[in-house]
Formats: sequence, C-alpha cells, structure tokens
Amino acid sequence: MTTPLARVLLDRIAATGPVTFDDFMRVCLYDPEHGYFATGPLRSAASGDFLTSPEVSPWFGRTLARSVAATRRPRARRLSVVEVGAGSGSLLRPLLAELGEDVDVHAVEVSPAARDALAGIAGVAVHQRLEDVPPATDTVIIANELLDNLPAALAVRCGPGWEERHVGIVDGALTLIAAHPRPEVVTWADRFSGPVEEGGVVEVQLEASRWVTKALRRIRHGALLAFDYGGTANELSGRRTEGTVRTYRGHHLGPDPLLEPGATDITMDVNFTAVLAAATAAGARGELVTQAEFLNRWGLGDELARLADEERTLAVGGAPMERLRTRSEHTDASTLLHPRGLGDFRVLLATVGQGGLPEAGR
Ligand SMILES: C[S@@+](CC[C@H](N)C(=O)[O-])C[C@H]1O[C@@H](n2cnc3c(N)ncnc32)[C@H](O)[C@@H]1O
Repeated sequence: MTTPLARVLLDRIAATGPVTFDDFMRVCLYDPEHGYFATGPLRSAASGDFLTSPEVSPWFGRTLARSVAATRRPRARRLSVVEVGAGSGSLLRPLLAELGEDVDVHAVEVSPAARDALAGIAGVAVHQRLEDVPPATDTVIIANELLDNLPAALAVRCGPGWEERHVGIVDGALTLIAAHPRPEVVTWADRFSGPVEEGGVVEVQLEASRWVTKALRRIRHGALLAFDYGGTANELSGRRTEGTVRTYRGHHLGPDPLLEPGATDITMDVNFTAVLAAATAAGARGELVTQAEFLNRWGLGDELARLADEERTLAVGGAPMERLRTRSEHTDASTLLHPRGLGDFRVLLATVGQGGLPEAGR
C-alpha cells in the first residue's frame, strides 16, 4: 500500500537526496499532515495498534501513585505530576483518583486525538509540548512507552567502525542505503552498542538521551520515571543481527517500516544503559529496575494477594458476578508483572534534589 507520506518522502529524497533514519522516523511519526501520531485516532487503546500497561489495568496508575506520593518533601508546596505521551489518560485517571486534589496534574501529548481524550479528565491540564508545562519546584515526570518512539539513527558494524543506514530510493522504492556515519552517531555507538558482530544493526538513540536530559532539567526536587521495553546494552546485544526496529498494527507486528510510512508506528527496544548514562550526566541519581520489581516495591504483589483472597471469599459467599469481576481484575493486574511480558519492561528511575523515591518504599 502506498501512503500519501511515501509520495512526499519519495519526492523529497528525489529532490534533495537520502535522509537519515532519525529524520525518516521523525517525519513518519510526527509530520503534522501525515505523521502516525499527529493524525488519526487514539493509537494506544483496545481498538488501536498496541495495548500498554495502563490500558491493561488501572493498578498500573494506582501503584505508580504510591511512588509519586512518596516523593513529596515534608514541607513542600504543591507537587506537579507530568505525564508525557499520556495517550488516552488511562494512567492519569487512577493516579489522580489515588492522589486526590492537592497535586497539579499535566498531560503532554503530540496527538490531537489523545489531547481530545485527555481534555475530558477533570483536574488534568493538557499541553502539546513539555516546554508548555508551567515550571514547579517539586515535579515528577512520568513516561510510559514514549522513549521507544523517539527518532533514532541506524548504525551498522563495519570492521572496527560503523556505517550509517539512510533512507534513499532504489528501483522507485524507499530503501535503506549505506552512508558515512556522523561523528555523534559513532560516539554513541562506540559507547552504548555492547558487543555487535559484523553487519549487526544498532539503533542510535540520541533523541531518547536528549529527552531524558531535557526532562530532568525541569526537576528541582522530584523524579523521572520512564517505563519501556528494552534492556541494557549487553542484554540487547543478542538482538543485533537485524536490530530491533519494528512496527505494530492491530496488536501484532506490522509491515517493514519503509513500506507504509505514516500508517504505522515505528518503534525499537530502548537502550537503558544509554538513558541511565544521560540521567547520571544530568546530575540525577539513576537506577534501572524491571517493571515487576518496581510495581512490587510499591505494593502490587500485596494487592494481588488481597484480590485473590477476596475472590475466594466471594466464591464461598455465592456472588458469581462479583467473583468474576474480581477474578478478571486480578488477571489483568497480574499481566503487569508477567516475567516474559510487561513485568520484564524496564524502568529508569532518576531522582533529583531532596525529592525522589525513598528507599523506605521498598
Ligand atoms: C505507545 S503510546 C503510549 C501511550 C500511553 N503512555 C500509554 O501507556 O498508554 C505513545 C504515546 O506518546 C505520544 N508521543 C509520542 N511522541 C511524543 C512526544 N515527543 N511528546 C509527547 N507525546 C508523544 C503518542 O502520541 C502516543 O500517544
């Protein structure tokens, strides 16, 4: 299927030459007229292309709310909670319900459809860019499945060095072509690629590191929590033969990212070694944990045990509908901890100043 954006890209490349893969991704996802996130319906919903943790269970937002509450400094004025890439608001709704009214809650979204959905949540201020959120002394910034969408360059191991892959035209079609690497791409790949065999593909996630730096600069006291799929540089090294760039459609892997630009998302495994390094370089205290470890630290395991008890009581008490409801709540919440699924997602916890996530929460 040729998309309108494919035509735009083919014309542009024919006129001015190949584009870097990060530029290609930026256009595919964010072009105001044709970009995947800038147009169309809500992408992260049961009816969309992928299902995320907060869409699976409200216990994601509820459990997160406990960690957010724990970042409060005793005599601090109001706490500002900012979710970037807030989607349908499925994280902010339960979080807000749990935290009550003495927090200022902000949602940042590039997608107009998502901003419309978020505008319907009482108590949430909606913005298009992080820069539009009013600064606050005490701030917690949350991002779930945002970093994996930020544009990345592609580097390919070539002898002791690297080549880049740009997007050009071969036989009338968008095609990856070899290009001389930019110095910043080489520096990042040398530092964060982990072991890569000849011809192996590395996503050079400079934009993700820049975003982490930008987010942390907004926090005087507080924390940044970024959840996503991916791993450390070493953990990702087994996935370097083809690299990890992919698309999703209707909850399944979608077509090659070059085939239907603007009609699919483009995503990749996040290199958490690199984003942790960016957080540390920005002066934060950084830690990487799995999603399961994080949620259990803040009590999700105990809630699951409570739900299981409740279900047993309801079974004895003869309340079949209530029992079914409790069972499905338990099943959904357990999905957040699944060791080969959402539970294996990673969390960058970066704390700044006197706020942050106290050890006592463990
Ligand atoms: C994979 S979805 C996740 C949505 C939500 N966080 C969730 O977990 O359900 C990524 C979301 O981030 C938004 N997004 C992507 N890049 C963004 C950016 N640079 N700034 C703000 N929002 C962005 C998209 O519009 C999309 O709603």
